[in-house]
Amino acid sequence: MTKPLTACHIKNFPKVSIIGAGNVGKTLAQRIVEHNLADVCLLDIVEGLPQGIALDLMEARGLELHTRKVVGTNDYQDTANSDVIVITAGIARKPGMNREDLLKINGKIVTEAAQKCVNYSPNALYLVITNPLDVMTYLVWKTTDLATSKVVGMAGVLDSARLQAFIAMELGVSFNDVQGMVLGGHGDLMLPLPRYCTVSGIPITELMDESTINRLVQRTRDGGAEIVKLLKTGSAFYAPASSAYYMIESVLLNQSRLLPAAVYLQGEYGLNDIFLGVPCRLGYCGVEQVLEINLTTKEIDALQESARSVRDNIDLALTQLTINN
Ligand code: APR
Repeated sequence: MTKPLTACHIKNFPKVSIIGAGNVGKTLAQRIVEHNLADVCLLDIVEGLPQGIALDLMEARGLELHTRKVVGTNDYQDTANSDVIVITAGIARKPGMNREDLLKINGKIVTEAAQKCVNYSPNALYLVITNPLDVMTYLVWKTTDLATSKVVGMAGVLDSARLQAFIAMELGVSFNDVQGMVLGGHGDLMLPLPRYCTVSGIPITELMDESTINRLVQRTRDGGAEIVKLLKTGSAFYAPASSAYYMIESVLLNQSRLLPAAVYLQGEYGLNDIFLGVPCRLGYCGVEQVLEINLTTKEIDALQESARSVRDNIDLALTQLTINN
């Protein structure tokens, strides 16, 4: 009789734990395993939800022909030894809920999740997705002893991807040929930089008139809201998941991609003690470099205005959560 096969576990595949198995979390899990990038641990507060999604994804594994494993859990122990922790847990702003309420609720969720994860994965890179993004990223860093290079917020890649898509659609060119750059906080005051947006190396300022560019810039600023309005319930998740995947790939494959992300600033652009979207390089060690690119006076002013708004919300969140500043 043929001997029964036994499972053979090869160690040392990268591991990504995703906190929050909602739309962004589960779509990101799917992207990661289907690209064969890493094993995934999906954690949620709702019992059965991450387990059900993980099982569903595992049942698709043979058809999608990938070899990565997904587990679903409600227990932080299962996130142990992750290379990357992604935090998407939180609630969406509901009618009647003000900015303070959202800061307090999501601030509590995010900081508790980060603190629990740090116990089991102290060396991981922490990628924050929960909104309001820049503030949540700051709180993760502030309430843990993680190095600034190990905490990063996902927004610039998403905002840039949206701008790139609008440029490609406007010009009818290949999406692959468009590069965009959006700095600042992930909100109304974000700073798309047309001078640094190109199609195959040609600045878009050579390809479009000013009013068209302004229209695309405004559409980028309203990018999240446009989708919320169309969906009626919930918010965007495909492009956010793809943006997070792009960043995680740069980390796990040590690609040192140069991309915009919310990183800790210590004097760059005249800003201190804040997480804000600027260009950086992301590799296995985390944020390897924060780049200071040339900005006009008008652009610097806009970046500082965006920073002031983020800073106000950070201060409010610190007070709400009684965290010492
Ligand atoms: N611990 C773990 N998971 C939690 C917790 C918690 N304390 N609180 C909420 N969650 C889970 C919810 O149960 C839900 O499954 O977080 C998940 C959030 O999922 P969605 O509501 O579907 O939100 P999603 O669209 O995935 O967006 C997540 O990303 O883009 C941002 O603004 C968006 O902050 C939001 C986040």
